[in-house]
Amino acid sequence: MGIWVALFFAIISISMKKSIALNKECAEEKSKIMGLISDYFTNIMSVKLFATQSFEQDRFFKLKNFFINVAEKGGTYHTWLYGGLSLLTSGYALLFVSALIFGYQNGIVSPGDFALVIMINFNIINTIFQLSYTLRNFIANWGEVDQALALLEEGEPTHLDQPKATALKCHSGEITFYRVAFQYKGTEMLFQNKSLTIKSGQKVGLVGYSGGGKSTFVNLILRLYDVTHGAILIDDQDIRDVTQDSLRKNISMIPQNPMLFHRSVMENIRYGRIEATDKEVIEAAKKAHAHEFIKKLPQVYDSLAGERGIKLSGGQCQRIAIARAILKNAPILILDEATSQLDSVTESLIQESLWTLMKNKTTIVIAHRLSTLLHMDRILVFDKGKVVEDGTHSELLKKTGLYKNLWCAQVGSLSDESSKNNP
Ligand SMILES: Nc1ncnc2c1ncn2[C@@H]1O[C@H](COP(=O)(O)OP(=O)(O)OP(=O)(O)O)[C@@H](O)[C@H]1O
Ligand SMILES: [Mg+2]
Repeated sequence: MGIWVALFFAIISISMKKSIALNKECAEEKSKIMGLISDYFTNIMSVKLFATQSFEQDRFFKLKNFFINVAEKGGTYHTWLYGGLSLLTSGYALLFVSALIFGYQNGIVSPGDFALVIMINFNIINTIFQLSYTLRNFIANWGEVDQALALLEEGEPTHLDQPKATALKCHSGEITFYRVAFQYKGTEMLFQNKSLTIKSGQKVGLVGYSGGGKSTFVNLILRLYDVTHGAILIDDQDIRDVTQDSLRKNISMIPQNPMLFHRSVMENIRYGRIEATDKEVIEAAKKAHAHEFIKKLPQVYDSLAGERGIKLSGGQCQRIAIARAILKNAPILILDEATSQLDSVTESLIQESLWTLMKNKTTIVIAHRLSTLLHMDRILVFDKGKVVEDGTHSELLKKTGLYKNLWCAQVGSLSDESSKNNP
């Protein structure tokens, strides 16, 4: 019995490494297929527009064949392994049953002993086999978990609050960049030791070419990433020393492409301040000029939004995001192209509410349409990850720099448009 158990576990432990590797390979191929399927459905519009259905199908079949090969390899290996173990066990069972028959025939083993030994042995064999199957399932799951963990490690960096992190005390909302430099994994360094202060209540516009670093600048303030060098301070507190919850509670962010939950419109707006009453939510929606379209929805504020709910336009989602920010009413406000998807009439209506919202708040506005930044206290101009100009609209126009070029290009194209329309 001892020899059989030792042999059984020796084979299992020797085969374990290979078994884990095969299961991991299988999980990797499976996740590639799942990734392709999810990518396909996310980009279904592009597939249709570029008529690439058969191209996508070929990719799918290639991956499917890889998966089948790997699964077959694993299946064959495990069939041989468990076939071998079953053979070993059958040999052992044959041996001890023969020994028992021999003992019984020679009067060494009584019928009672015979039955007892058979029962004990088969119970032990059964338990050990169950154990090995549990181990096999564990190894299979291990492969999938290991693969998922590897994906997480490759993804966005996550950072925890420091053990002694305290809540941010935001008295005035002054933001200071002190010798900040930041680098995404494998890319060039951005901001190169930049120091600047955005005073309490100041309204700052961020402009510049696409990829200049504007979104990264605000993402660093939100501590979605940690600076590589230097520090960012809010009211003289290093944002790494405060809890992330308290930091983000003090900042309202209206993103370019706000995402909505598959929940009611009411709940989606209330996300700005969970404890807000229905009345407050509706008030905020009115200020964001969202109430007009919400009241026309089939179930008004109870209509389900999000991926599987009613399809709202980009501008409608932006108005819901603005309503959320109005409800949140945090001392620091960040708008990343927050009104870019609105028509000019709705935009000018909302602008009024936004100005009220900005009152007494430190505000950062990212905008490609420079005319929306005319009334900002200050404009920062970004180019290739650096702040290349800093001043008011009129100060920057006096220089012959990037801002003036951008402004002239936009004003020029606008006047061209109007002269075309009014010959
Ligand atoms: N998650 C990321 N990982 C790696 N590089 C990134 C990431 N996000 C942005 N970058 C890079 O950092 C640089 C700055 O990007 P950022 O998104 O801040 O530009 P932006 O000024 O906001 O551009 P846009 O006007 O198009 O929104 C770009 O070169 C971009 O490719
Ligand atoms: Mg951006």
